[in-house]
Amino acid sequence: MEFSELVKARRSCRGYDGAEITEEQLSFILEAGQWAPSPLNLQPFEFIVITDQNIKARVKRIGEDARQAVIDNGGPGWAAKYDMNYIEEAPVLIVVTVDPDKGGLGSFFGQPYGAMQAASACIQNMMLAASDRGLESLWFTFFAPEKLQEVLDIPPNLEIAGVLPIGKPKEPIKAPPRKAPRVHRQRYLKMNQ
Ligand SMILES: Cc1cc2nc3c(=O)[nH]c(=O)nc-3n(C[C@H](O)[C@H](O)[C@H](O)COP(=O)(O)O)c2cc1C
Repeated sequence: MEFSELVKARRSCRGYDGAEITEEQLSFILEAGQWAPSPLNLQPFEFIVITDQNIKARVKRIGEDARQAVIDNGGPGWAAKYDMNYIEEAPVLIVVTVDPDKGGLGSFFGQPYGAMQAASACIQNMMLAASDRGLESLWFTFFAPEKLQEVLDIPPNLEIAGVLPIGKPKEPIKAPPRKAPRVHRQRYLKMNQ
């Protein structure tokens, strides 16, 4: 797909039709992630590809526990209705882990998030790659990281940048509106909004 089209066509998907994704599609997506920029080109991310329904169910349960914590602690009312079935519907989950110690030189001058920034670029690349192949995904972060860490045997020195369910959307997804870009010229000028 043409980039200008692709960048707007990509949608966060919360309902999958259950169709499998091919090994070729999966490789294409992972390769796109690997080509993300990273400080000193350290490529601080790794991927866990989950296709096992039992493990997906455990990930979903961890999500539901996080949702319960939101409800119990007076979070927004919509949380109670937020359905996480898509975690089990998606044929594949890709968990992106990142080594926070591989963030380049930024920690010497007040920019300690280089590794997570790289992992974010990696995730965006993968989401765009999925859309390019007629698939959609979701950047899912609705979980307590230490619980997911335990279930997936992720070493304690690594962080989780996100979980991406990927698959064919069940139905067309409406694009949430975007604001006009808030652009400052030459220096930051206060705006009304
Ligand atoms: C860092 C990050 C975390 C997100 N976490 C969640 C999440 O846990 N659950 C969810 O449904 N959407 C999550 N989203 C998706 C956003 O809600 C979504 O990107 C936004 O509403 C815009 O919709 P679009 O992606 O279809 O353009 C997350 C997005 C980002 C960038």
